This record gives sequence, C-alpha cells and structure tokens, in this order.
Amino acid sequence: MSNDGVNAGRRRFLVAATSVVGAAGAVGAAVPFVGSWFPSAKAKAAGAPVKVNISKIEPGQQMVAEWRGQPVFIVRRTDEILGNLEKVAPQVADPESKASVQPTYVDPKTRSIKPELLVIVGLCTHLGCAPSFRPEVAAADLGADWLGGYFCPCHGSKYDLAGRVYKSQPAPLNLPVPPHSYETDNVIIIGVDQENA
Ligand code: FES
Repeated sequence: MSNDGVNAGRRRFLVAATSVVGAAGAVGAAVPFVGSWFPSAKAKAAGAPVKVNISKIEPGQQMVAEWRGQPVFIVRRTDEILGNLEKVAPQVADPESKASVQPTYVDPKTRSIKPELLVIVGLCTHLGCAPSFRPEVAAADLGADWLGGYFCPCHGSKYDLAGRVYKSQPAPLNLPVPPHSYETDNVIIIGVDQENA
C-alpha cells in the first residue's frame, strides 16, 4: 500500500473524528441553560442556582436547603408568626434591614417576597455558626417573652423569625436574605433574582 493510501485513511479518520467533535459541540451549545438547572455538586458549591420544592413545609416549620455550600433556611410563617414580627420590632437592632444584606425586591420588615415564606442564609453574622430554629413561643430556656426565632449556640445571639438580630447581641447584623425567586408557588430558585426569573 502506498503512502497515499495511508494518508487517505488518516484523512478519513480525521474527518470522522472532527464530525463527532462537531456534533458534541452542537449538543453542548444547545444545553447549557438546561444543564444549569441540574448542577453538579461542584457547580453548586461555586454558586449555581438551586431549585427547591417547598410544598412539604408545614405551617410554622422550616426546611434547610443548600446554596453555595451554605445552609438556607426556608420557613412557612403563620399569621401568628407574622403578628409577632410587629411585636418584636422595637427589640431588634435593624428592623428594616437598612444595614443588613437583602435584595431590594424583598419587603424591608418581613424580609421576604411573600410574607408567609422566609428565605434566609443560615449562618450567624457573628462568626458563622448555624443558628438553631426555635419557633416555640416562651421556650423554657429562652424566656417567657420569647416569641420564636433563631438562637445561635456558639455565643448566644438571638434572631426573630425574619432573621432580624435582637439588640445588644454578639451578632451585628440580620441573617442575609439570598437572591431568590419563585418559579411556581411551590418552587423557589435560590440564586436567581426575582426580576430575572
Ligand atoms: S457565631 Fe453566633 S453568636 Fe457567635
């Protein structure tokens, strides 16, 4: 067989290989949007949006999601809880989150898009411990005037059920509200702003 024959075979191989790469490239170009909704663990840690189905959260209860390697607390608040936010407002350090982290489309007092659903990053603004969810009113260890909230086990910071820190606590700021939006009533996307949903 001549060199020409070898080269012709090699050319055919190269053409075939290029076609396969071309096809893979076309598929890759077509799916990044879809792919972003099924992120790998590595992509999640790097900040990819996370979809969370919240349909199973009972009134007064919370679920914990994960976004950017951080816990995100999602609470279904009752009318009683929302009423208690008004009562504790004089006792919290930043009642309208003027110094705290939250998107502009979030209500300054309830710190949420929908009053009944709180979405906050579950890391204490003091030194980053995970505060405990303590929704029970007048909990024995937190005092007769406790109206439900979060208690940080590391140095005792207390937050209400809008993630607003009480005055004179080690933690300086409210728990941050992450960018988030609603795909449907039961699906929240953490990491995508409401105006971009
Ligand atoms: S880390 Fe929460 S009070 Fe210090």
